[in-house]
Amino acid sequence: MLNFLKRTKVSKKTAVGADFSRSDILSGTMPSHVAIIMDGNGRWANKRALPRIAGHHEGMKVVRKITKLASELGLDALTLYAFSTENWKRPKIEVDFLMKLPEEFLATYLPELIQENVRVRVMGDKDKLPGHTLTAVDRAIRETSGNTGLILNFALNYGSRTEIIEAVKKIADDAKNQKLHIEQIDESLLSDYLMTNELQDPDLLIRTSGEIRLSNFMLWQLAYTELWFTEVLWPDFKEEDFLQAIADFQQRGRRFGGV
Ligand code: IPE
Ligand code: IPE
Ligand code: MG
Repeated sequence: MLNFLKRTKVSKKTAVGADFSRSDILSGTMPSHVAIIMDGNGRWANKRALPRIAGHHEGMKVVRKITKLASELGLDALTLYAFSTENWKRPKIEVDFLMKLPEEFLATYLPELIQENVRVRVMGDKDKLPGHTLTAVDRAIRETSGNTGLILNFALNYGSRTEIIEAVKKIADDAKNQKLHIEQIDESLLSDYLMTNELQDPDLLIRTSGEIRLSNFMLWQLAYTELWFTEVLWPDFKEEDFLQAIADFQQRGRRFGGV
């Protein structure tokens, strides 16, 4: 437990971020659910004159590191944006590679995830995933279904607008079939029809690579989430960056519209 935290004792100071020591973070209010838009793999590869897929491969190792840390910190859920409904626009060779990554990731790290009591979960339109991707993902979901630690939620072929449309369709259908009354439709009911139904809304959203946008990610769920952006490209993202984001989160005053 907390191996990474024990290894490093230094406190860190940056120009923009809050000062933090690891023990301060542990004694502060932890976000329950952190979501990450893992961006910048292509640019990381470009800078090294490597093919874009090399960036995705490197990014996979960061997924492992950050999952481990999130688990050690005792977070309830970590949602990772791995493939958007818009990413199908990319060259076939890149899409094919991205669809093989979950398999490679799970072939390498599933035993470790099981050992760490992590429960794998996926949100997105699974019907459009290639069979081999689906098989790997379903196996991981099955084999970790009894785990009670961190929920590792992969957004795979996920788009927030599609998610909302699908929810609205199901609600309309249930209303038509008298399973619910229109008066029952409220925020909590709509949340239950979304792909995040069993998860709390994220407390903290991280986006790497300097892009300041949401790119169709969790538009409903992020209504009151604290947003944190960094120029760091995803393959360069370190445990310290994650801890910095949490330290900054702990300095924020969340008012939810109150005073
Ligand atoms: C994020 O990195 C990974 C996915 C979107 C799958 P990118 O591939 O978007 O990297 P950049 O933004 O082109 O650098
Ligand atoms: C968002 O990144 C999707 C993922 C990280 C999976 P993109 O790189 O696809 O987003 P845009 O195109 O820059 O908005
Ligand atoms: Mg990108």
